[in-house]
Amino acid sequence: MKEDKIYITADGSHSIQSAEFEVSYHSKYGAIQEAYHVFINAALRFKAVIQKDISILEVGFGTGLNAFVTLLEALKRNINISYTGLEAFPISIEHATSLNYPKLLDQTQEQLFLEMHRSAWNTPITLHEQFLFEKQLVKIESIDFREQFDIIYFDAFAPGAQPELWTAEVMEKMYQALKENGILTTYCAKGSVKRTLKKVGFTIEALPGPPGKREMTRALKIP
Ligand SMILES: C[S@@+](CC[C@H](N)C(=O)[O-])C[C@H]1O[C@@H](n2cnc3c(N)ncnc32)[C@H](O)[C@@H]1O
Repeated sequence: MKEDKIYITADGSHSIQSAEFEVSYHSKYGAIQEAYHVFINAALRFKAVIQKDISILEVGFGTGLNAFVTLLEALKRNINISYTGLEAFPISIEHATSLNYPKLLDQTQEQLFLEMHRSAWNTPITLHEQFLFEKQLVKIESIDFREQFDIIYFDAFAPGAQPELWTAEVMEKMYQALKENGILTTYCAKGSVKRTLKKVGFTIEALPGPPGKREMTRALKIP
């Protein structure tokens, strides 16, 4: 039987090669680098300029890297985050505890990273006084949030691997889930994805991508 494998990306941080979907969880040019570029710089820091209480929905919790860098950023900037991570096919706890993110980013917060993985599904917890956290074991196709989030980190596997997650139906759900002036960011810059986002009402910005990628996408819900 084929198994998921942890490997080292170009910036030294781990990623996982998915056996089921035959793709990597992150850019091979650098998992941590990509997380900061696409989700922290293009979304969280962008929002944090104007507000200090921010709710985030992540599509594809996976390794927990995006949640962990968001926690570190909240502590650094003294902002309050409410974080909801959706995941349909969780990684094993053995893989989660082997990942080198705390070691590379902030060893003093390692327990919080592990707690993200060990915490129960569908049960909100106060991971830190500045970081409310919940992971939901659910397929994104079946969610139904209404104007609840300031930011969506759309981090599904690429359209080539999972075309069913990049449809107008799913993007319509993303649009509904965001508050007014909410933003969705994704590493994906495919023309068809940008057209779908536009079709459901988003205003699209093409931003420079992380190393190894020309572009990424930021989509704004402008009333
Ligand atoms: C590109 S990986 C990124 C994961 C995560 N953001 C990270 O940094 O590790 C995509 C994730 O989406 C999850 N996924 C796949 N299909 C899904 C679905 N239908 N609903 C929710 N999550 C799904 C995968 O299991 C995987 O964890």
